Amino acid sequence: MEKSVAKQFPRPKVSIYIASSIDGYIARKDGNLDWLHYGHTGDEDYGFKTFTSTIDAVVMGRNTYDVVAGFDEWAYKDKRVIVLSNTLPKVRKEAELFSGQLTELLAKLHAENIKHIWIDGGITVSRFLEAGLVDDITISIITMVLGSGIPLFSTMNREHNCRLISTQSYPSGLVQLKYEVLHNN
Ligand SMILES: NC(=O)c1ccc[n+]([C@@H]2O[C@H](COP(=O)([O-])OP(=O)(O)OC[C@H]3O[C@@H](n4cnc5c(N)ncnc54)[C@H](OP(=O)(O)O)[C@@H]3O)[C@@H](O)[C@H]2O)c1
Repeated sequence: MEKSVAKQFPRPKVSIYIASSIDGYIARKDGNLDWLHYGHTGDEDYGFKTFTSTIDAVVMGRNTYDVVAGFDEWAYKDKRVIVLSNTLPKVRKEAELFSGQLTELLAKLHAENIKHIWIDGGITVSRFLEAGLVDDITISIITMVLGSGIPLFSTMNREHNCRLISTQSYPSGLVQLKYEVLHNN
């Protein structure tokens, strides 16, 4: 487990941008994401393209990689993709594998002129939060109670004060919450 960092250091901005059920799950138990489209009509993208236009790299956990690597099309064509895993021997050619301390990863990306990263996967976002390495959180709540599944957040040994930046609701019923994580505790 990554130790909490007492002090910030030069690093990319780190953002969580993730969709959750009302009861806090990001996927069904088997990883299925079909419910993400529940209530969705038209071509509303809930700010996704605008958000991804601001990021230079995606850092995802191995479990998320396993799911997205199975999609018909690789979704991250113009972005660097870093997969966190201590067990995978290799990843597809469009991605990079990293195993090690998150602080080490962020220092490396900073040195490579990466300014803003999107972190993805429930375990992954919780580990970054635990380490005090997240700057903002956007959660899109889908109008669905799943009852069980893969949780957005794991138990963490650290609290964070956050500041609400915005709330936005859409005709589909999706509600999007944006928070700044305050690094004052
Ligand atoms: N609703 C949404 O918006 C959304 C977004 C993203 C993902 N998902 C879904 O969420 C599921 C995956 O989430 P998850 O919580 O199971 O796992 P995850 O965060 O995607 O992956 C966790 C795995 O990453 C590896 N890892 C290695 N070093 C790590 C580190 N320092 N920090 C974090 N992870 C590290 C570990 O795998 P090793 O054992 O290989 O070391 C760990 O078990 C998938 O079903 C995916 O489709 C949903």
